Amino acid sequence: MPDNRAEIEKRRTFAIISHPDAGKTTLTEKFLLYGGAIALAGMVKGKRNSRHAVSDWMEIEKQRGISVTSSVMQFQYDGFCINILDTPGHQDFSEDTYRTLMAADSAVMVIDAGKGVEAQTRKLFKVCVLRDIPIFTFINKMDRDSRSPYDLLDEIEKELGIGTYPMNWPIGSGVDFKGVYDREKDKVLRFIPEESGAGRREVQEQDFSLDDPALPGAIGEYLYDALKDDVELLDGAGYEFDLERVRHGKLSPVFFGSALTNFGVEPFLEQFLKLTPPPLSRQAEGRTVDPFAEDFSAFVFKIQANMNKAHRDRIAFIRICSGKFEKGMEVEHVQGGRRMKLSQPQQLMAQSREIIDEAYAGDIIGVFDPGVFSIGDTLCAPGKKLKFQGIPTFAPELFSLVRQKDTMKRKQFVKGANQIAQEGAIQIFQEINSGMEEIIVGVVGSLQFDVFQYRMENEYNVEVHMQTLPYSFIRWIDNEGLDEAALRKLNLTSDTKKVQDLKGRYLLLFSNQWSINWALERNEGLLLSEFSEN
Ligand code: G4P
Repeated sequence: MPDNRAEIEKRRTFAIISHPDAGKTTLTEKFLLYGGAIALAGMVKGKRNSRHAVSDWMEIEKQRGISVTSSVMQFQYDGFCINILDTPGHQDFSEDTYRTLMAADSAVMVIDAGKGVEAQTRKLFKVCVLRDIPIFTFINKMDRDSRSPYDLLDEIEKELGIGTYPMNWPIGSGVDFKGVYDREKDKVLRFIPEESGAGRREVQEQDFSLDDPALPGAIGEYLYDALKDDVELLDGAGYEFDLERVRHGKLSPVFFGSALTNFGVEPFLEQFLKLTPPPLSRQAEGRTVDPFAEDFSAFVFKIQANMNKAHRDRIAFIRICSGKFEKGMEVEHVQGGRRMKLSQPQQLMAQSREIIDEAYAGDIIGVFDPGVFSIGDTLCAPGKKLKFQGIPTFAPELFSLVRQKDTMKRKQFVKGANQIAQEGAIQIFQEINSGMEEIIVGVVGSLQFDVFQYRMENEYNVEVHMQTLPYSFIRWIDNEGLDEAALRKLNLTSDTKKVQDLKGRYLLLFSNQWSINWALERNEGLLLSEFSEN
């Protein structure tokens, strides 16, 4: 299948991770501008709307509409076919944010040069490490006062436990930002802000080599001397660029720039595309699936409920892992044990959704889900059965005790809660051996509580009472064969709660890290995990 190979080799599928406000949207927009996928910056999402906490369904709907269209974007650049996966932030931070990373082959981590590593980046980074995917760092906002680049690299290394390799080096920052030195090309790219009514927007780039006699004059003697020293130090520090380590997520190539002023974005994109891998092979039970294999295979990593409650259908987002998808083709849904045609296959192109005729390994497509898919399910060519490894369930951090107001509505309550949990928006836990009269709902972003409550009332016609619980951590107990008697005997702090998930696995709810440490120290051999395989 030579034509499949060429198509698949062109694919680059990555996620952008950052703490809110570091500049992820701005950087994404610049990428899309270069790819010609949008005509003007400022078109990617209605950010103003999405920033407010919402309890009104119309708002949520609008927001979800927006997050649907911006959750995956495909565009072409320099012979590559690029799929960007957006990882929602702020209020709509949810398990989907984590799961999105399961569909990516690499990640771009955007860091605010004035702030360094922040909470949300830390969380998302953990998931990248779980998968050993390559991580590229863009240190943004160099046109503003920034922390020392050495400090920033040191923080990334210490806090995230990954090596760093500066691909370029900044010359000053803020009002003194003069540009970056490209270490490989031995070229200084100069930053010349253009003052205009609209503020600093475009920059001109000029090239100098480090030995160019005009360079000290251009950037100032002081910064020139500092740059010479820095470059000498970096070269002498023995940091080797090692592509193998990059590919295994052990070393992060670091680029400095300024997304807003468009400085350093295109060189970053070009180098990143060269270094980041084409679609990776994926682990299935008992074997590895090669993306270039002839047979189609894919897995479901996200399910989006339909906003229209008249049709309770959904869109399932699938990541194609091997072969080619063709509209109308029959596939086998492994977990459902049946063959089916995937209808309304669609791809999201920055601004619009398009029905597609074909897609290849590496691509992400949305397909109509008549309510049969679950997160992590495998789709494959008929008769070529395989099962991809499940997508881990991540530990939620916010918990509410939920009960129905009208006890006559038990059936709807159970159905609604289960269906919403199946989509992966919430997780459900129960007291040991209790029925579903009362459940504990766990989420990773507070918006999910509002969405859950609204949907229970509007789609399932059940009013629910929700009470916030004082827990912040949940851990699965990983000890094989642990039974209820053993669970009862655990030595735990009085504020630790024992619960079960829908699969009957035991978990512990903690209010603080101290109680987790207590549990681990006083129960020899106890295995606690932040993730659980579906
Ligand atoms: P996010 O998606 O990671 O949340 O960040 P976003 O791109 O929205 O950027 C957050 C704010 O930082 C925006 O300003 C944006 O213009 C600004 N910004 C992004 N990159 C740079 C940069 O390189 N330099 C400087 N100086 N600012 C940058 P805002 O005022 O909050 O929003 P807006 O009104 O500009 O949209």
